[in-house]
Amino acid sequence: MKTQRQRVIYDYLTPCACFGDVGCDHGVFTYEMLASKKAQTAVYSDISAACLQKARVLTAPYAARATGVVCDGITEAHAPCDQVLIAGMGGMEIVKILQNAPTLPTRLVLQPMKDAESVRKAVVALGYAVEKDTLFTAEGKYYYIVTANKGQTLPPYSEREYRYGRDNLRDLQADFIHLLQVRREELTLAAARAKESALLAAELAEIEEILQNGTH
Ligand SMILES: C[S@@+](CC[C@H](N)C(=O)[O-])C[C@H]1O[C@@H](n2cnc3c(N)ncnc32)[C@H](O)[C@@H]1O
Repeated sequence: MKTQRQRVIYDYLTPCACFGDVGCDHGVFTYEMLASKKAQTAVYSDISAACLQKARVLTAPYAARATGVVCDGITEAHAPCDQVLIAGMGGMEIVKILQNAPTLPTRLVLQPMKDAESVRKAVVALGYAVEKDTLFTAEGKYYYIVTANKGQTLPPYSEREYRYGRDNLRDLQADFIHLLQVRREELTLAAARAKESALLAAELAEIEEILQNGTH
């Protein structure tokens, strides 16, 4: 793995029969999943032919266990996959891919660069139970990660859990607290400048409440 972000994501991937690496770019996740035998086989795909070619070169030692496809999102080529990773894309792109998918795996590992709330909502609407919904830091940046499985039932998400992530609200880990403190500062400055600040004030009040007691 080249980056800390990739190492953290890799640890969320579980052993599987067929790993789907959607938006694989260089193919490092597919390479590691096959090299470690965490995945027996893999389907790696990218909308860009140039990216797929990079992945084809990297995964060449495991070519017999891997299929590379140039395509937009999830297609029938991903039907054998029991676990799919979509990482490093905007949340709305991930939502579009999931909603248009003709076939979906039993397990999803998703790392949206933004719009995590929309990703959580889409995953739940598609019938998944969110297993892990948290935040991590790598290379000095914050990243949300959502893992979800089909065939489980969990209590429904509240609107606040959709906004912030269920594990974040429950665990109140240092990274999440810091992110809220930064957001509180931004909102305070913006509210001081804004003519109409009711929405900002509502978000600010919610953040204050979470920081004080973490209630849902
Ligand atoms: C920033 S890279 C992330 C690569 C890798 N998943 C990671 O997290 O390190 C995003 C990749 O997603 C691909 N991509 C973007 N939209 C896509 C889509 N709709 N379907 C397939 N690939 C897509 C891009 O071409 C690019 O290679």
